[in-house]
Amino acid sequence: MTNKKVVVITGTSSGFGNLVVKMFANSGWNVVATVRKESDLHVHDEIDGVKTLLLDVNDEKADLAFGDLAKRQFGNVDALINNAGYFQAGPLEGSSMDQIHRQFQTNVFGLIALNKAFIPIFREQHSGIIINVSSISAEIGFPYTSTYEASKGAVAMLSEGLHAELAEFGIVVKALFPGNMNTSIFRPDKVDRAENVPESYMASWNKFNSLNTVRSNPQLTADVMFNMVNDGNTSKVRYYSGPDGQAIPRAKKLLGQDWLWEEFSKRNIGEQTTLWNALMPGPKDSDEN
Ligand SMILES: NC(=O)c1ccc[n+]([C@@H]2O[C@H](COP(=O)([O-])OP(=O)(O)OC[C@H]3O[C@@H](n4cnc5c(N)ncnc54)[C@H](OP(=O)(O)O)[C@@H]3O)[C@@H](O)[C@H]2O)c1
Repeated sequence: MTNKKVVVITGTSSGFGNLVVKMFANSGWNVVATVRKESDLHVHDEIDGVKTLLLDVNDEKADLAFGDLAKRQFGNVDALINNAGYFQAGPLEGSSMDQIHRQFQTNVFGLIALNKAFIPIFREQHSGIIINVSSISAEIGFPYTSTYEASKGAVAMLSEGLHAELAEFGIVVKALFPGNMNTSIFRPDKVDRAENVPESYMASWNKFNSLNTVRSNPQLTADVMFNMVNDGNTSKVRYYSGPDGQAIPRAKKLLGQDWLWEEFSKRNIGEQTTLWNALMPGPKDSDEN
């Protein structure tokens, strides 16, 4: 048993997960970091206090057993960050049911199984923090992204329900809604593109994609993720990161749902209004990670 706190983070080969492993380790935490591929098992070798384990979150049996396995690494466990996920992109009509099921398997069912694995441990010790990574696309629905955002909407509502359900056991559940960030999730070899898209979608889909190419620095999200575990706030459930991630809920409050939706719909076909531009700051420093 160690005196150091222990955080378990899924999906740490790249992106937010990779950045936040370093932040926790540098702050004196022990980290159980998971990767999906054997070839990434040494990705954190240079960092002290990190144990890297293989976990494909699609394997529900492994997920359900992972709470105990993770606890055995350092003897205790204080926080879980469910970060692993990927992007199934494109019109719903062109996405196969198999693609849709796989998106939910990773982004929702795997995440649920991991929540289930750690809840009994946290309930027994009467403490524990669970961060579930949702998306700003669960706050407002982008076109050509409906399956992904449906999966992230499920994560958001699961987290709110659990926040209320588990408070009496000393467990704090929070959801993170990152804005558009420059990680490898958008790399063509990582995106699971709709397989069978009718030609008539292409012009609008291409135009929409061309509006979303500039993205913010993923460190902005890693900072919020780190803060969510460390800020001691047990009553706040929704956290937003990045200029767009923070501006969208603010604009929703200012304009109300219907007016925001009107402005947002114009923006998605390339008709940015003065009002939209005033409310939405541009991306910040877009280094990939
Ligand atoms: N970047 C954004 O703009 C953005 C916005 C909102 C929300 N998010 C969410 O943020 C989270 C992190 O994404 P990121 O942007 O940092 O992208 P990323 O760099 O692609 O990182 C995603 C991580 O999840 C892992 N992963 C994917 N499928 C997995 C599986 N079945 N089992 C275990 N690990 C798996 C990936 O492993 P491999 O390298 O092996 O594939 C990778 O380590 C995701 O949940 C994503 O949906 C991202």
